[in-house]
Amino acid sequence: MSYAGPAEHPSPDSVLEILGMTGIVDPEEMEWSVVTPESRHSIWRLALPERSGNAASYVVKSYHEQADEYFDHRFRREERVLDLLGRYAPGLAPRAYGGRIIAGHSACLILEDLGDRPLHHDLYRSAVERRRLLGRSVDLLARFHRVVDEYSGIFRAVCRSSVLDRVNAATLLRRFDIAVGRLGGEGGRAPGTVRAAFRKEVIRPLLQAPGRVIHNSFSPLNICTVADGSQRIVDMETVSIGPAELDLAELMIYPGGDVGLQAELTEQYLGEMGIDGELPGGTQGLNLAAVTRALDYAGTLATRRQRFAQAGLADLGLAQERRCGEYLRAARDGARAAGVSAGLNEYIDDLLAATGGSA
Ligand SMILES: Nc1ncnc2c1ncn2[C@@H]1O[C@H](COP(=O)(O)OP(=O)(O)O)[C@@H](O)[C@H]1O
Ligand SMILES: [Mg+2]
Repeated sequence: MSYAGPAEHPSPDSVLEILGMTGIVDPEEMEWSVVTPESRHSIWRLALPERSGNAASYVVKSYHEQADEYFDHRFRREERVLDLLGRYAPGLAPRAYGGRIIAGHSACLILEDLGDRPLHHDLYRSAVERRRLLGRSVDLLARFHRVVDEYSGIFRAVCRSSVLDRVNAATLLRRFDIAVGRLGGEGGRAPGTVRAAFRKEVIRPLLQAPGRVIHNSFSPLNICTVADGSQRIVDMETVSIGPAELDLAELMIYPGGDVGLQAELTEQYLGEMGIDGELPGGTQGLNLAAVTRALDYAGTLATRRQRFAQAGLADLGLAQERRCGEYLRAARDGARAAGVSAGLNEYIDDLLAATGGSA
């Protein structure tokens, strides 16, 4: 069987087989378009002729060994989580119609097409609109956290069966190092004292909060608005066990937020989770989670800025640079609110200054 590389969509024959449409739809009639060029996977929209009697379009997420040596782990976790959510909380995430792994090469997963409205596109219309939309996302997150609590045994088993994205001290410190390397801190690595402070003052207290099943990538990039205005969560490949605050912080630090909104959304989350009191890791947990996540994103955006600049796409490069600065400001604000030591605060200020932002 000829099977294409990352730039290509999966084999039409195998997709038709998974959908049970072999002999019903001619591969020539399948129309493929790219959903987003930014993914390390390839994400395709597949349109089928109406007469096939099924949904007219699907999203096909294709994981490639070339881009990610753990592609099969990601595929498996995403497929299993979507399958469980489809049973226990229909309407929370896209339906998964099936998938397949080709050993040592790639995997593909066929999903319900949620349309073309990722939440982040809608967040800059007005402050009122942003508040309304993020309120819905908190509702979505609380529903997700409640269902994974209710069926905690099986969701935890799925997380444990994957070697990836463990939320532990070693991983969080490695992510800090990667972010700093991407942000071009001195020599690409933080001084030993700063790393030690990050471990002691950010990672360790953050991990004292109870571990629970989390989405672990709960950003507006991974939320889609569907035709009736409700939202769905996508991208289950990083689901893991960690503090709840990581999910909530990730949503709240998306560039453009304001501090008052964070308190309001936290209250909403607590109410919907039936928690009387404060977050499991306290407000401190939320601040610390914001620091780690904001640095991660800043690092990712710094890399992307460089890639766009090298490709001669100056405008896109500048947009990434601006967002990178906003994430660094979120990291700085989180660190200040958490009361971390001067050395760590200053280091984050320096990273911000180095990217052209003002401390
Ligand atoms: N089922 C879907 N329907 C519509 N759009 C989707 C669907 N799944 C993913 N997308 C879009 O593709 C983007 C990338 O998919 P995602 O699963 O998040 O991959 P990645 O792991 O690269 O982040 C999402 O941010 C979303 O905009
Ligand atoms: Mg994603």
